[in-house]
Amino acid sequence: MKILIVGSGGREHALIWKISQSKRVKNIYSISGNAGTKDLAQNVDIKVSNIIEIADFAQEEKIDLTVIGPELPLSLGIVDEFNKRNLKIFGPRQKAAYIESSKAFAKEFMRKNNIPTPEFNIFNSPDSALDYIKEAVFPIVIKADGLTGGKGVFICEDVNKAEESIKTIMVEKKFGEAGDKIIVERFLKGQEMTFMVISDGKRVIPLVTSMDYKKIFDYDEGPNTGGMGAISPFPQIDTTLYNNIMKSIISPTIEGLRFEGKEFRGLLYAGLMIVNNSPYVLEFNVRFGDPETQAILLRLKSDIVDLLEASAEGHLIDIPVEWDTSVSACVVLSSKGYPLKYETGKVIDGLKRAKSLGVEIFHAGTIFKDNSFYTSSGRVLNICAIAPTLKETMKKIYDAISFVSFDNIYFRQDIGRSKK
Ligand code: GLY
Repeated sequence: MKILIVGSGGREHALIWKISQSKRVKNIYSISGNAGTKDLAQNVDIKVSNIIEIADFAQEEKIDLTVIGPELPLSLGIVDEFNKRNLKIFGPRQKAAYIESSKAFAKEFMRKNNIPTPEFNIFNSPDSALDYIKEAVFPIVIKADGLTGGKGVFICEDVNKAEESIKTIMVEKKFGEAGDKIIVERFLKGQEMTFMVISDGKRVIPLVTSMDYKKIFDYDEGPNTGGMGAISPFPQIDTTLYNNIMKSIISPTIEGLRFEGKEFRGLLYAGLMIVNNSPYVLEFNVRFGDPETQAILLRLKSDIVDLLEASAEGHLIDIPVEWDTSVSACVVLSSKGYPLKYETGKVIDGLKRAKSLGVEIFHAGTIFKDNSFYTSSGRVLNICAIAPTLKETMKKIYDAISFVSFDNIYFRQDIGRSKK
């Protein structure tokens, strides 16, 4: 088989790594990849937003299956374009991807389908939102409606911070049209958990649970990022919670979307807050989580291609999925200053030595030139490992990290520790 992966982060490198283990796969292509993917795939320089050129490429190269990493091409309708051309693709169509591309749609969908989510109000103008927050009970959460790469969510402790956030989103338009509407949501305190399933529109196969560390600083301080680390499984998972998530969240979401003519094929990511062992949906995403995917794929023993293909074809039946019961984790190495301002172009050293300790290294923002690796983005590398206990896993990862160096390296020191 010839497989094409769209995207260029750690999630896509991890997917390529797992796909390359399939006996069914001969060639892998990566749009546009990074310095890590080039060893397993052929990197192809096309923008992920250029869905027509990607479809042309898949058609010309006779790609058997295309797998989409990031949300942007899904929100632009890449799956619809591939379907039109009879090309096989893993991911939801544009209408179903709306559950990630519009948070207002997602919240109203949950209200309609009785899916547990924090109470909320939606505003179309800054004035009505500013009026509302004068009477609000703090803290509250303010979210831009559209896609913001995880950066359009603000936890506001008081009215001043809330005012500032509304102005940033709706007046200064920091996120462009994504800020035409905002959601003001009740703040819930609990444990954040990631629950991902693969669906063919009717059936679902749950993946193992995980937890990501979204804040930039240790002890969950500072602004949100795309994710600074992840562990799998979610430490507090038990059968009651698991069954509750499947029954009260996953099933009604898949059924509700189908009922609205938005059949969901692909990966559904539920970002949950667990409060007193009850789950609430904070957000839905329509693609693999990053960096959760880097951690969970280390636990997958089955052929991922069977799973992705069955979802794309709409017959997710009898696909055996076996998981390692060990604990896996991922720590993201970033450029100091991320998610705000940071420098790139720094030489990366020590990767071979780190790898010799038995970790997997998934590249994100890296390039390779003149026989050296260089940093090229905010999130640079993902150091991942698996071991029987969380303690052993984290030791393996942090020991390996001690060999990796580049100017202005920054990473969280507390991945694996339980959160406040
Ligand atoms: N780790 C959060 C996300 O993938 O959206």
